[in-house]
Amino acid sequence: MKDTFISNDIVYIGADDKTIDLFESQYIVPNGISYNSYLIKDEKTVIMDTIDRRKTEEWLENLEKALNGKKPDYLVVSHMEPDHAYNIGLISDKYPEMKIIGNEKTFTFISQFFNIPNLEERKVIVKEGDEINLGKHTLKFFMAPMVHWPEVMVTYEMTEKILFSADGFGKFGTLDTDEEWDCEARRYYFNIVGKYGMQVQALLNKAKTLEIKMICPLHGPILKENLEYYINKYDIWSSYKPEEKGVFIAYASIYGNTAHAAEELMKMLKAKGVEKVVIADLTRDDMAEAIEDAFKYEKVVFAASSYNFDVFPPMNEFLHHLSGKNYQNRKVRNYTEWNMGTKCR
Ligand code: FEO
Repeated sequence: MKDTFISNDIVYIGADDKTIDLFESQYIVPNGISYNSYLIKDEKTVIMDTIDRRKTEEWLENLEKALNGKKPDYLVVSHMEPDHAYNIGLISDKYPEMKIIGNEKTFTFISQFFNIPNLEERKVIVKEGDEINLGKHTLKFFMAPMVHWPEVMVTYEMTEKILFSADGFGKFGTLDTDEEWDCEARRYYFNIVGKYGMQVQALLNKAKTLEIKMICPLHGPILKENLEYYINKYDIWSSYKPEEKGVFIAYASIYGNTAHAAEELMKMLKAKGVEKVVIADLTRDDMAEAIEDAFKYEKVVFAASSYNFDVFPPMNEFLHHLSGKNYQNRKVRNYTEWNMGTKCR
């Protein structure tokens, strides 16, 4: 069930997108995606990020309703990727007195993406640890470069102890999607920020110094309880440790023989007592899910035939993705002449 209540002073103004076919033009999102945005109402009123162009109208309606006739004093820009930044130009034109809070890198991007009148007078450049008081609330800024772009920063609201975590702790799926957090948050994590484990670890180390009562990400549900659970998941994922015991078999088969071998291997492993064995057909299954599973499980089997003096392309693509996402901390052994007549070594 959709739960967007944050507090009396902090209002959710984002939108669900249930009709997008591919997020970032590459990831299937069967349950859509949410573009989160928030309004902090105080002596100074602050918009925490804009949203994707696909939901501009709904966002503006939500914003105006939450503003209730007031004008925003600030827009905080956590991330310049267009799923959050698209409406910066529009909202800056609509409210010409509004100042824009970002870091040095944010404004490098803004100048490249938008032509904002009087930007020099309107920009508020923040650095690591800087604070801005709004009245009852105070925002404190922490830089989070490469989680997921170079300019990313997160904001900690010190009074209500809320972390606005940008893409961190995001999840595929709209806010009214009734599903466990882990699976689609993990698929989101490894595919979107999986490459940047070191940078996520740096951010987690900063988060450890804060008392956090709520996490407001830019995608997915607002996290209100049991925050150690989610932080622990992020710690495992970003340190490239396997999350679960088990074997993931990823195969790419041309005529079905490699597929048959992979299925047989699954049966053999199960017969030997391996409790968790999962399998993916890289030619047909969701590649993003396969990437997630490769990170999730302790052991992975890659099975494919050769092709054009190389590896069959769906496997090649899979390996390319894993390499791009800094796949590591797994032992790999090469079996070039594997056939089902011999014993697994
Ligand atoms: Fe949701 Fe990196 O943007």
